[in-house]
Amino acid sequence: MDLAGKRILLIISGGIAAYKSLDLIRRLRERGAEVRPVMSRAAQEFITPLAVGALSSGHVYTDLFSREDEQDVGHIRLARDCDLVLVAPATADLMAKMSHGLADDLPSAVLLATDRPVLVAPAMNPKMWDAAPTRRNVATLQQDCIHFIGPMKGEMAESGEAGTGRMAEPLEIVAAVTALLSPGEKPLAGKKAIVTSGPTHEPIDPVRYIANRSSGKQGHAIAAALAKLGAEVTLISGPVVIADPIGVTTTHVETADQMLHAVLNSLPADIAVMVAAVADWRVAGSSDQKIKKQPGEPPAPLQLTENPDILKTIGHHALRPRFVVGFAAETQNVEQNGRRKLEAKGADIIVANDVSPATGIMGGDRNRVKIISSSGLEEWPDLGKDEVAEKLAHEIARRLG
Ligand SMILES: Cc1cc2nc3c(=O)[nH]c(=O)nc-3n(C[C@H](O)[C@H](O)[C@H](O)COP(=O)(O)O)c2cc1C
Repeated sequence: MDLAGKRILLIISGGIAAYKSLDLIRRLRERGAEVRPVMSRAAQEFITPLAVGALSSGHVYTDLFSREDEQDVGHIRLARDCDLVLVAPATADLMAKMSHGLADDLPSAVLLATDRPVLVAPAMNPKMWDAAPTRRNVATLQQDCIHFIGPMKGEMAESGEAGTGRMAEPLEIVAAVTALLSPGEKPLAGKKAIVTSGPTHEPIDPVRYIANRSSGKQGHAIAAALAKLGAEVTLISGPVVIADPIGVTTTHVETADQMLHAVLNSLPADIAVMVAAVADWRVAGSSDQKIKKQPGEPPAPLQLTENPDILKTIGHHALRPRFVVGFAAETQNVEQNGRRKLEAKGADIIVANDVSPATGIMGGDRNRVKIISSSGLEEWPDLGKDEVAEKLAHEIARRLG
């Protein structure tokens, strides 16, 4: 019940992703939040106030000029009587109104009148998201300290369209809400952290690549957990489909080489947590053109060459961060391999886990790790990846003293 007693004003605007806000209401309430919904006129074309009211167990506010609602709470009280205003989905139209201070309907009037933190989850066609006016409006809203979650890359509800514009999933939005509403203690305030996350993609030719099954869930959660403890976090992420964590500066890369450069460009730092599943090898001399199948001929062998070792480079760098954490994803001799890595890579901690398919750890939501350091071995129980991240962030804060 990490949102117990929190009051969320949920503004639903008129996008196709409005159907997801029904699940979002459930997820927020499951965690103890009270959800007060406001719907734009267009939102009511996609989902009904009846469904929203049934799921939130309360009145649904739809009209700026409702005599009944104005006597009851009023749009100004609606804007202030909450801990957070959440806009999900946020249409291009509503963000345009917000960035210009328009207030000609209930959602925009509430957003202009509120003095509470505002989190928006944009959802729209990728062309709308990329359009110059939307880019300008987003930049203005960011300057106005509006928080964003997403949009994500992926398939749109409209068939055949893909790109950036999909609304973040309800659980990702809940995580962003939780992060914003739990300020807590900040033992890492003033500390700079670099986190890597996700897989790397190593090209074979312009259309094919070598990859691995890393989802980025653990690395992203660690970046968020360090930020929550006050660190200034740079996350360097390989290709993933999950949201950039809130309160973190994220750089997106594809290959191990690009990841190394991004990490080196982020130095100096106090903390480095190298979680990414960096490919050990890349294709030597990957082709600039698509390699064609030659009828009757066997496939050309792929020549591999070693990738840079990012953890080792950081662990032995002249600007080595004060605290370096490496991850060891193993399928056998987890502890032994972890200990060997600790020394060879110059890390302070190795977080070792067994990623054999049977464990479901790679790509899953849970993790079971062993913490290996010069002071010995600590085994943590099976935990959610968010819980591992929080525990590890506190451990780093404790060890940094
Ligand atoms: C079928 C359909 C789907 C739409 N989906 C979106 C969407 O995902 N995102 C968006 O920004 N606008 C979308 N629109 C356009 C908005 O509904 C329109 O701009 C509307 O005026 C938004 O009003 P509001 O911002 O007050 O909710 C869609 C329109 C239609 C007809």
